[in-house]
Amino acid sequence: MNNKYKGKKVFITGGSAGIGKGIALALAKEGASVIICARNQANLEKAVAELKQVGNPEAVFGYVVLDVSDKKQVESVAKDVIKTLGGLDLLICNSGYAQVGEAANLDDSVYRKLMDVNYFGHVNTSLAFQNQFIRQGSGEIVFLSSTLAFFSIYGYGAYAASKQAIVGFAQGLRQEMMFHNVKVKLFFPPTTDTPGLARENEDKPAITKEMEMGSALNKVHSVESVANAIVRWIPNRKFIGYTGWDSWLQYFLFRHFPEWAIRLTDSELRGAEARLKKKNKAVSK
Ligand SMILES: NC(=O)c1ccc[n+]([C@@H]2O[C@H](COP(=O)([O-])OP(=O)(O)OC[C@H]3O[C@@H](n4cnc5c(N)ncnc54)[C@H](OP(=O)(O)O)[C@@H]3O)[C@@H](O)[C@H]2O)c1
Repeated sequence: MNNKYKGKKVFITGGSAGIGKGIALALAKEGASVIICARNQANLEKAVAELKQVGNPEAVFGYVVLDVSDKKQVESVAKDVIKTLGGLDLLICNSGYAQVGEAANLDDSVYRKLMDVNYFGHVNTSLAFQNQFIRQGSGEIVFLSSTLAFFSIYGYGAYAASKQAIVGFAQGLRQEMMFHNVKVKLFFPPTTDTPGLARENEDKPAITKEMEMGSALNKVHSVESVANAIVRWIPNRKFIGYTGWDSWLQYFLFRHFPEWAIRLTDSELRGAEARLKKKNKAVSK
């Protein structure tokens, strides 16, 4: 057990499934009190039952039904969470989803909803707890973005934009909160085997799927490995967190050799197109 989390008060958005639930379970095992939120109540109930099974019997575990894109709702929930936990040490803004498709094929409402949930969801939540952290003179805010914020590929324009927006917000907020002894951190999850990824794959363009399968830079991670990496990274001094050699390579290449990295992803796209053509020819024979 890592004593850094024992007795800590944590709120996680989107804690009923996937990476958020993985983080909630890892923190509960470390002795933290955890409240999670999501929209589906039945999933929240199941997740809290799991937290109680692995967590400290003296810790507090609970849930709130919440849509993070609703600012008023988030503000009211924040007050309840602070009251229930008696303050807050760690806020994890994790909620989010991906919708993939060629830019011209996505309705305007898709672009707006992605921003509402992925970007404004994080903004609403962090602002709703900000004054509490300032009053305390302590606390940590963790934002989950995506490795697709390093760069975007075919079909991911709308999603990646919502994840890149988080980066700019987190960087600015980090400096503002520095004066109040509140840490702001930013994690870039890699492709992770979650219910969200399964839904995302349903309407992913065939060429995007093919490109991901053949990519030298893409690997599917388990929820546990990503959640554990996040829990290990939070107490360290680094603002940016990622997991796995594939994320490191993506970050390194796109930061230091952006033109070369773009050429690499373009060649992966062309390769995917050629493989798809071959497969389609074989099927039509
Ligand atoms: N999985 C990946 O490959 C991957 C890669 C990079 C980044 N990420 C990011 O990591 C985060 C977690 O992804 P995941 O794959 O674990 O997703 P997931 O399996 O779909 O779980 C998402 C969680 O967020 C909740 N949620 C979704 N919309 C919400 C809303 N409007 N208000 C409140 N809660 C909401 C969901 O519950 P309800 O549906 O009941 O609300 C669920 O608890 C997301 O921000 C995602 O963009 C994921």
